[in-house]
Amino acid sequence: KNNHRINEHGHLEINGADTTRLAEKYGTPLYVYDMEDICSRAEAFKQAFEEEGVGYQVAYASKAFSCIAIIELMDELGLSLDVVSGGELYTALKAEFPPHRIHFHGNNKTPDEIEMAVKAGIGCFVVDNFNELTWLMAITDALDTDMNVLLRITPGVEAHTHEYISTGQEDSKFGFDITSGQAEDAIVQVQDHSRLNLLGVHCHIGSQIFETTGFVSAVREVFGHLDQWRAAAGFVPEVVNLGGGFGIRYNEDDEPLPLQSYVKAMVNAVKEEASARKFPVPEIWIEPGRALVGEAGTTLYTVGSRKSIPGVRDYISVDGGMTDNLRPALYQAKYEAVAANKADQDRTETVSIAGKCCESGDMLIWDLTVPELNQGDVLAVTSTGAYGYSMANNYNRIARPPVVFIRHGEDQCVIQRETYENMTSLDRSLKQIGAQVQ
Ligand code: LLP
Repeated sequence: KNNHRINEHGHLEINGADTTRLAEKYGTPLYVYDMEDICSRAEAFKQAFEEEGVGYQVAYASKAFSCIAIIELMDELGLSLDVVSGGELYTALKAEFPPHRIHFHGNNKTPDEIEMAVKAGIGCFVVDNFNELTWLMAITDALDTDMNVLLRITPGVEAHTHEYISTGQEDSKFGFDITSGQAEDAIVQVQDHSRLNLLGVHCHIGSQIFETTGFVSAVREVFGHLDQWRAAAGFVPEVVNLGGGFGIRYNEDDEPLPLQSYVKAMVNAVKEEASARKFPVPEIWIEPGRALVGEAGTTLYTVGSRKSIPGVRDYISVDGGMTDNLRPALYQAKYEAVAANKADQDRTETVSIAGKCCESGDMLIWDLTVPELNQGDVLAVTSTGAYGYSMANNYNRIARPPVVFIRHGEDQCVIQRETYENMTSLDRSLKQIGAQVQ
């Protein structure tokens, strides 16, 4: 892995920081992010667009990992930001991210969230359905504020890990259906509203995609409809947003493409379609989440108890699990791990890594080959940077781990470890409320 090496103590080192020392200093579980890895991925996306000579925005999908420090970093890198809730928007504003580079997504934005976004002066509102469009119109009117709008449509291309299925009618909770004329109605409504400026269209075909073909199909599908909408409503898009979903390497079965190749394929498809249909080449926006932060993150755990079932399996339990990484339990996601304090030792046994939650499904990794692991050893699970902290939870009242950034070998704690006190701080005691217990 980039920036991962084994140091003279036989310890896993990430970008110059000894993970065993980090585990001692901060305790475990601990999320560790390699800043340089994130920077080089952001640069790769940007550079690919620069080379293609098209207008673009790369918006970090903050659902993958949102906190003040990561948003500050994305700002430093000149990226835009995709938020999908009042909470993500609040975090972005608190991080002083420039509002004009914030894009607001979601299939059920509430009037309060819409008002918050309009008041903040965000750069773009991605309209998902007629309900929120009606609210957006009323709120922009009431606040006398203009808003740029993208319409989210479902292009009938759904990309899953390795294949994509082209369907005539997309069955999805997101966006306007394009086959029934709803998207066209929405375009007309936005155009007719003086406070709204229709910038273009948005689509997102899926996640953890390892081929460019799905994106190319989406571009073709979208432009097919754009022709129709130009004829019917005179609509010519300034922006086509193709969403995120660029695949990363979680384990050895995953073979991600260089990030540039997605960009090149998209840009070429957009240029071709635009020229064939006599559209000006629009700006191309993308929204990577996982591809920016996923491989940069590593979770450190301490090994605890061990259960050997002779001839069957050895369970090694660690001090975290589905509370800090829900993905194995939710999606049967497969991860790799190394013994951080024994990274130079031969892998002599096969064990399964269990989390500490009271739930049989709380298994982080099945059948991992490792050096002999004992209580107190540090296990590093790699590629946990996306949808790890952001989907962390307090099941079993387990506290959320802290997050440490590594920049040029220096560690900086950017999210503190949650405490038991934090977890009970919103609770109200019946005694305090004065309720009758019986
Ligand atoms: N844009 C839109 C409109 C999206 O819905 C998503 C992800 C993204 C961008 C970013 O996708 P990415 O580049 O990160 O794949 N919790 C799941 C992922 C759900 C993603 C939902 N939308 C997981 O852990 O894999």
